[in-house]
Amino acid sequence: MNTASGIRISGWGVALPPTIVTNDELSETLDTSNEWILERSGIAKRHLGGSTSGLAIEAALQALAVANLQPNDIDLLILATTTPDDQVPATANKVQHELGLTCGAMDINAACSGFVYSLVAGSGFLKTGCDRVLVIGSETLSRFTDWEDRSTAILFGDGAGAVVLESSKTGGDLLGWNLSSSGELRDILHCEIGGKIKMAGSEVFRKAVVAMTKSGKAAMDEAGVNPEEIALVVPHQANIRIIETAMKKLGIPLEKSIWVGDRTANTSSASIPIALSEALNNNRVKKNDLILLVGFGAGMTSASAVIRWGEADG
Ligand code: COA
Repeated sequence: MNTASGIRISGWGVALPPTIVTNDELSETLDTSNEWILERSGIAKRHLGGSTSGLAIEAALQALAVANLQPNDIDLLILATTTPDDQVPATANKVQHELGLTCGAMDINAACSGFVYSLVAGSGFLKTGCDRVLVIGSETLSRFTDWEDRSTAILFGDGAGAVVLESSKTGGDLLGWNLSSSGELRDILHCEIGGKIKMAGSEVFRKAVVAMTKSGKAAMDEAGVNPEEIALVVPHQANIRIIETAMKKLGIPLEKSIWVGDRTANTSSASIPIALSEALNNNRVKKNDLILLVGFGAGMTSASAVIRWGEADG
């Protein structure tokens, strides 16, 4: 059992399928345009294809390599997904086997909030004895997209992001978090078994701004930090206009957030680890920085976490 009190992210990785579809290409089969999609969502293109387990494995292998770990170093695998390969068993079981992990594995479905739910859950396992937890968000939303519905088809993409969470003594930690669910709103964004995604777009937009703001503030309050102290916000990558509005309401300048949705569209539970990985690869994070992760999604769920960035134990 570990005795360290803190937590740090020691590895990260991303997988995006090779096929890229631009807005202009979508406009060939849908009554829409590049200009409309860009202006209303900020999305320019998306990656489509692959399987949820395959993308998860690719992202996880990178995260393990960055963390310099072997498969049997991992004590638990949590896979956030709303698009599993099969109804049963969990996609995490396949990923666990193919990565050669010897630990337990489970899926978490909290829609686009799933990665932050999983990160908070993984942190709880670290606090109660695990040394290393692999947390992945992986999605193949294209399988559930109605490609004849211009109001939803423009928004989604496929991809995966993964992180390794480790117990640590060097200052990194999860300082505060907030998870919420408003099940009475489940009909405004849903997909029946065997069906396609249906969404009341402008209602989801309005509720998303409120949910992100409320959840982000609650996590900062729990962490005891002010908006001015946050160095980086990693928001769910659904729509740049949602992020712009929520950042204003959170009282944090837009420049402190990251937006990769222009290239990935909305990859649900994969979007936050994909965006976080890009921020890390671009050296936007330094030791002791406070990072706010804030997600929202179908359910309606929302989830936020404030983490203090730690470096390798020396
Ligand atoms: N191309 C062109 N026109 C489109 C269109 C498209 N792809 N999709 C919808 N329209 C039309 C609508 O039919 C409507 O036409 P009308 O006024 O003649 O009825 C008009 O554009 C405005 O539609 P509206 O839905 O009010 O637009 P909007 O500004 O709210 O933008 C979304 C639409 C979907 C981009 C926006 O509502 C959104 O992003 N919502 C949140 C979605 C989301 O994030 N979901 C995932 C949550 S995890």
